[in-house]
Order: sequence, then structure tokens, then C-alpha cells
Amino acid sequence: MKAAVLQEINKPLVIEDVSVPNPGPREVLIRTRVAGLCHSDLHFMEGLYPHPLPAVLGHESAGVVEKVGSDVSYVKPGDHVVTCLSVFCGTCDNCTTGRTVLCTDTTVKMLPGQSNRLSWARSEKLNQFLNLSSFAEQMLVHENAIVKIRKDMPLELAALIGCGVITGYGAVVNTAKVQAGETVAVVGCGGVGMAAINGAAIAGAGRIIAIDTNPVKLQLATKLGATDIVDPARGDVVQQVRELTGGGVHHSFEVLGRKETAEQCFGMLAPGGTATIVGMIPFGQKIELHGFDFLRERRIQGSSMGSNHFRVDMPRLVEFYMRGKLHLEDWISAKLKLSEINEGFANMKAGKTLRSVIMFDA
Ligand code: APR
Ligand code: ZN
Ligand code: ZN
Repeated sequence: MKAAVLQEINKPLVIEDVSVPNPGPREVLIRTRVAGLCHSDLHFMEGLYPHPLPAVLGHESAGVVEKVGSDVSYVKPGDHVVTCLSVFCGTCDNCTTGRTVLCTDTTVKMLPGQSNRLSWARSEKLNQFLNLSSFAEQMLVHENAIVKIRKDMPLELAALIGCGVITGYGAVVNTAKVQAGETVAVVGCGGVGMAAINGAAIAGAGRIIAIDTNPVKLQLATKLGATDIVDPARGDVVQQVRELTGGGVHHSFEVLGRKETAEQCFGMLAPGGTATIVGMIPFGQKIELHGFDFLRERRIQGSSMGSNHFRVDMPRLVEFYMRGKLHLEDWISAKLKLSEINEGFANMKAGKTLRSVIMFDA
């Protein structure tokens, strides 16, 4: 099968012939139908986060089950599934207390460089990325890395739920637990930020303030539920939000992964407010906050993959789409072939796209 391989950072991905073995007892072989291009893939391509190379990137995908291992009863061949990098064991302390995204069992949630699921003609080890590697025609994954979905759900839209949508929506609903009527600001309205905005609308947030340097994104944000927009080109973002809200927001979400925007998110909180950091701030980078601001019970927290319980959350997101509450069709800016993947990342870098998806042949 074909797969896009990252051989060196800051170099284009190369399409190579790759193979996967038959599924082990708890593994599932999936025919990849759609894979989304996520900003996190780009972070790794640019070396902002380390990963053993060569590797097949990609972690936002949907497909059809082809084969299952001897102990798998959750899915059968032909089932439609969405993948999630939050693979869980189900038995560690974090899993049994409901925080499956923080699973500590590294035999299931394998660390970078640990998986031996991919091979190719060369002698060098080919690494699986985040236990998935979706930029490939087939994926071999643990059965707890997938969720079944209804077959009338379009797979290109389902794929988006697998990372970008669950990350943004889950940050609002699961991590921050936004209450009806509360004020929300979202800094960075890419694929993940838009999901936070749409999620805030579903949660019944009061004012939803979208902040992005790209006016096109701000326009779409309004369609997805933003009640106000803030353009950083018009002056200090914190000041603008404070003026709009008369003193700050209950919840802010950093959905970009930068020091300055993380600091802005904390700075725009009302007393008692919470800033949730969703974006991946470059490894090693520190952020600076005014200690005084903590006196008024302001909080800052991280959100990993939207603190998801994906076997429950993703089918719910599918239902929200089916009922017209989650506007997934607005996310897709381009449908690409695997061979066009580097153009997709170039467009992401240029800020032109919301989401590009690779469509694999049926
Ligand atoms: N202030 C506000 N918005 C900005 C700024 C800024 N200074 N600079 C860029 N942006 C906007 C871009 O215009 C774009 O709309 O941030 C958005 C980033 O979106 P994407 O590149 O589509 O990123 P996305 O896939 O949404 O991921 C965002 O979340 O999961 C993490 O790793 C991911 O850190 C990344 C973040
Ligand atoms: Zn676990
Ligand atoms: Zn992602």
C-alpha cells in the first residue's frame, strides 16, 4: 500500500510502498477512506515537536474495517469507524476514573518509536505516528483506538471529528464545562478553533467571541455561532475583548499554540474565569503571567484532545451533524489525493485552508 513518509524535518513527505502485518489479537486493520491534515502534523514536520523518523504521519481519519484480530468483538469487517489518537487500555487508574485521554498503559498507548506495525523495503525502522499513521491506504490499530459510527454519516466529515472537531468541541464541553449563558472567547479560528466555537454554540454559551488574524475565518466563525469578532489588526486583543464584555470573559480558549496568544487568553479573563490551552505551544517554550491575576481566582489549564471519551463523544457529534447543529460541511476547504499532500500542507501554512482532506480511493 501507499503511504506518505516524513523522512526529515522541513522536507516534503514522500509517497512510498509500505506494508502492515495481519492484525494481532486486539488489533484492527482499516482501509483508510479519508485523512484530514491537522496543524499538529505540521508541528512535527517542522520539528517543533520531536518524533523518531522516518514516520508516517496523519491522525485524523475515517475508514472501513477490513480485518479484525482473534480477540476483537467490538467491530467486524465492513463497519465504518473513526480513529482517535486517544487510544485507551480501559484498566489503568486514569482509564477507570474516566480520564481515558490520560491512559498510562504504554503497551496500548505506545510511546513514539515503540510500535512495530509498519514496514517497508528499507532496513531503517518505519515509525507509526500516535498509534495511527493515517496518511496511508491502510492502518493497523488497537481496537480501543476506534469508534463505530452510523453508515449514513459521510466519511469525509466523520474523519474531521477524529481530531480537530473533538479537540475543539471537547475543550469547551468536557475540559472547561462551559455553562449556558457564559461568555467565551476563542483565539485562533482554524479547524480546531471553529469546533470550539460551534461547540460553545451547542453548549448554549452566551457571547462567543471569535479572534483570528484572517478575516475570512472570522466570517465563517459567525456562521458557526460566533456573536462577536475581534481582529488583532485593529489593536490590542485583550483590550478589545475587555471593552466588548465590560471586564473580561468567563472562558477563553487558545487554539493556535503560541506564547503570546496563551498570555492574551489569560489576560482577557474576568475574575473567576478560566483559560484553556488547546494549541500545542512549541516544546520548551515558557509562558509568562501576572501573578496578581490569580488573586481573583483566575485559572489556566491544559486540554488534551478535548478531554474526550471518544466512544461516547464521537457518535454524539455525528448526531449533532445529522440534526444540523454541527456544520461539518463548512470545514472542508479542499479534497486532495495522497500525492497532493504537500500542497495541502503548504496551503495550511499559508493560512488558506480550514481543513484539507485526503480522499483515498474506495
Ligand atoms: N491571533 C489570532 N489568530 C491567529 C494568529 C494570531 N496572532 N495567528 C494566526 N492565527 C489564526 C490563523 O489565521 C488560523 O485561522 O490561527 C488559526 C490556526 O488554525 P490552523 O492552522 O487551521 O490550526 P488548527 O488545525 O486549528 O490547530 C490549532 O490546535 O491542536 C492544536 O496542534 C494544533 O496547535 C495547533 C492548534
Ligand atoms: Zn488506561
Ligand atoms: Zn490533530
